[in-house]
Amino acid sequence: MKFDTIKPFLCALAVWFVFAYTYEAAYAGLRDNTLIDAGKHFIYSTSLTPIDPNIKKASLGSKLFEDVRLSFNGKMSCALCHIDKFGSSDGLRNSIGIGGEGEGSERLDSDGLVVPRNSLPLWGRGESDFQTFFWDGKVEKEGGKVRSQFGDYAPSNDPLTVAIHLPFVEIREMVNDDYEVKSSLKTESVKSAEKIYDRLLERVKENQEYVSAFDELYFLKLDEIEFIHIADAIKVFIQSKFRLQKTRFEKYVKQESVLSPDEVAGGLIFFGKGKCVSCHSGRHFTDFKYHSIPFVQAGFGKNGFGVDYGRFNVTHDPDDLYKFRTPPLTNVEKTAPYGHSGSALTMEEAVIYHFDPLRLISTENMTPLERSEFYKKLLASSEDSELIPYLDDDEVDTLILFLKTLSYEESSE
Ligand code: HEC
Ligand code: HEC
Repeated sequence: MKFDTIKPFLCALAVWFVFAYTYEAAYAGLRDNTLIDAGKHFIYSTSLTPIDPNIKKASLGSKLFEDVRLSFNGKMSCALCHIDKFGSSDGLRNSIGIGGEGEGSERLDSDGLVVPRNSLPLWGRGESDFQTFFWDGKVEKEGGKVRSQFGDYAPSNDPLTVAIHLPFVEIREMVNDDYEVKSSLKTESVKSAEKIYDRLLERVKENQEYVSAFDELYFLKLDEIEFIHIADAIKVFIQSKFRLQKTRFEKYVKQESVLSPDEVAGGLIFFGKGKCVSCHSGRHFTDFKYHSIPFVQAGFGKNGFGVDYGRFNVTHDPDDLYKFRTPPLTNVEKTAPYGHSGSALTMEEAVIYHFDPLRLISTENMTPLERSEFYKKLLASSEDSELIPYLDDDEVDTLILFLKTLSYEESSE
């Protein structure tokens, strides 16, 4: 065989070797066993819940999720605060509920009532190991029973189904805060809730498309349809649309893909020096426990006058003042603003709030009294931040590169 004939093959082989060598050299150090081992506890895209394969039920749920008729004034739906573009949150510090119009920041210009908390995304919420809902865990499964505002009258023993019931009857969220409501319905009591469910159920029953769907999918005649069936369809929709998917980090752990040196360095801070994993643990990146971290309050506050007592609202135990459920970090890159009241506008601010909140707040324009109150509250909500060491700006930037690897690659929109 002539040399000329094999020359192109030899060249190609040489190029391949050079490429493989450089690639290896660039990424060899990145198969970091410490990070891979740490990440093995986070094999999270595999569903633990047998997801209902019934696409038709999910599609019915999706329609109900988007249907404005299922709100008191006929203008509000779940989908207006859980928006694809914002990673199933709403892009606002505090949500804007009933009376509001538009999407994201458009709602700020409307007359909607402020819901004094940051909207939570829905990823992974349909999994059976996700049993604690809302910033303060006001719906949770404990000792095999669901604990919620419904007390002994919980509509279901499945916490997600109960959580889905709540926005429909929550004043400001999907129920007006006006004279009619106040005079005819005792605020947020179980009986009042039932009245609202009945009213919304009637609207569903007036819609032939829904009636046929409940007949076909749930084998129910018109007078057998109840609110729980509406909640069930929405649950199937949440389980299917917001199921966990593979992130770049998971692919890295399973050695299906690589991360850049900085992303690996960020991961090592997350699992190491930064101690992030002591709370943001498990496949949802939360321990489902409550901690006080000095995220200051943005907006009115659940308890009024810029105060949100957090977990205390549920337990009335002073030890729980200013504690909030560790938020999951799945797709965190897309769900800004952050924290229970959205006081952190960026991931960087969210991380810094954990250990150096004063850097983010100017106290200059406060009166001495306001300043003193502010410091007291900050101190009271800092109990668990002692655990987190000071991180310099480079470390924070590196951590954020890692947090971005917790996003889904395929568009979640
Ligand atoms: C006005 C905006 C708004 C509307 C409308 C709304 N939500 Fe939400 N959603 C929120 C906010 C804000 C939170 C966090 C509330 C809290 O923790 O107190 C939340 C939390 C949740 C959670 C808990 C997630 C978690 O991580 O624990 C679920 C589930 C949920 N919403 C489902 C729904 C469904 C289903 C509907 C329609 C029936 C709906 N939401 C309507 C704003 C809204
Ligand atoms: C002691 C438990 C704890 C530790 C340790 C911890 N966090 Fe958090 N983290 C929380 C809690 C609780 C919140 C919510 C605080 C609030 O809203 O008041 C939070 C909020 C966040 C948020 C905002 C998420 C959202 O959706 O709003 C991010 C991002 C975050 N933490 C990242 C980190 C990183 C990175 C580290 C390590 C440097 C870390 N956390 C360490 C408990 C912890």
